[in-house]
Amino acid sequence: MNIAIVGTGYVGLVSGACFSETGINVTCVDIDKDKIERLRKGEIPIYEPGLEELVKRNVEAGRLHFSTSLSSVIDDVEVVFSAVGTPPDEDGSADLQYVLSVAREFGRNIKKYTLLVTKSTVPVGTAKKVKAAITDELAHRGVDIDFEVASNPEFLKEGAAIKDFMSPDRVIVGVESERAKKVMTKLYRPFLTNNFRVYFMDIPSAEMTKYAANAMLATRISFMNDIANLCDKVGADVNMVRKGIGTDARIGNKFLYSGCGYGGSCFPKDVKALAHTGRENGCTMRVIEAVETTNEHQKSIVFEKLRQALGGNLRGKRIALWGLAFKPETDDMREAPALVIIDKLIEAGAVINVFDPIAMDECRRRIGDKVVYCKDMYEAVIDADAVALVTEWKQFRMPSWAIIRRVMKSNIIVDGRNIYDRHEIEDEGFTYLAIGR
Ligand SMILES: NC(=O)c1ccc[n+]([C@@H]2O[C@H](COP(=O)([O-])OP(=O)(O)OC[C@H]3O[C@@H](n4cnc5c(N)ncnc54)[C@H](O)[C@@H]3O)[C@@H](O)[C@H]2O)c1
Repeated sequence: MNIAIVGTGYVGLVSGACFSETGINVTCVDIDKDKIERLRKGEIPIYEPGLEELVKRNVEAGRLHFSTSLSSVIDDVEVVFSAVGTPPDEDGSADLQYVLSVAREFGRNIKKYTLLVTKSTVPVGTAKKVKAAITDELAHRGVDIDFEVASNPEFLKEGAAIKDFMSPDRVIVGVESERAKKVMTKLYRPFLTNNFRVYFMDIPSAEMTKYAANAMLATRISFMNDIANLCDKVGADVNMVRKGIGTDARIGNKFLYSGCGYGGSCFPKDVKALAHTGRENGCTMRVIEAVETTNEHQKSIVFEKLRQALGGNLRGKRIALWGLAFKPETDDMREAPALVIIDKLIEAGAVINVFDPIAMDECRRRIGDKVVYCKDMYEAVIDADAVALVTEWKQFRMPSWAIIRRVMKSNIIVDGRNIYDRHEIEDEGFTYLAIGR
């Protein structure tokens, strides 16, 4: 079976590599020539554990190819996946320009029945716009070629993307015909041979499922952040509360961690886009809007704690930040809380030392030399007045506090991810501040 995947980012590249691993012949297409050139040379443009070996193996086996043009491969494929970006527009809605441009290119080039599957996260109703764009191009060409669209939102997590794709909790597919259902079944059967968890549904429900899932996860985070902030005021420990509620089977223990807010390429934009879809349809999404406001507030919490701990004035203070990526095991800094913290610290006149195991280049690319890039977590704390943990990379979990205490100027630790043991740190002579503890 031959397929093409348009958009070779986190989702497109991982999906392409994983599909090719099952024996399917995959061409990953991207308009970014530099990206495709690097991939052809065996360079992986993003950091994702296990991806380099997976891509290499399948390229060598002749099953995974890279191209800058969909038109050059479309005749040979049965299915085209669209995995291009859907960034937020100024009003919070999802910008569909890339999705619709792929649809138009599809319409300009198909010669036989082909299925276009949208993997990007797109608002409910997008499939209709995709279909209209294709129909328009076909009419322009004066041809009548049979085609179909389907929706197959992706649920992989950066940092665990390959595992998530290879053994998904479930696969959601929106289709309009038995024919499309059959094709999608064939594609996903190899990943789910023993327990076929593909849920077929109508396309609007599939589109909506993705937003509902991300909004639910974001809601749990904002909810716990609200609880944590109250715990801070009343002397309760949110870690205890989390255990207390997470053991209730109706609640479950996942995604109940408070911290310095969610970031990344999905939750922030998807929450905003869902609220926008609500407004467009005359249906105010009150919970979702509050989730967003709470998160924006939470991204400043580390800054506020630093400011208070250092007497209200950060001018000239040296602050070490451990972690820049929006979460561990990725170099992605889209909407990362670290960026908000850095902006606020700079505005307040602080000097910032940073260290992240993977995202240093990405940070440099985004903000240049506004901060001091350090070679490791220990260099970052030399002469620092305070340290803030922003991303909970494993290598930050067991620092040598005694060494850190010796080289720091002052003794403030702000644990933005609630991972440290208060007593252990206080015993070393630090002032320890966490979120809701
Ligand atoms: N990153 C994630 O963890 C994740 C998880 C689930 C779903 N999603 C969704 O998947 C979609 C893609 O996300 P991503 O993080 O992989 O994006 P990305 O920005 O990493 O990659 C998108 C790629 O599409 C390419 N592109 C844009 N227009 C194109 C065109 N017309 N033809 C060919 N290539 C084109 C870009 O050059 C880029 O390489 C988004 O809708 C996102 O919300 C992302």
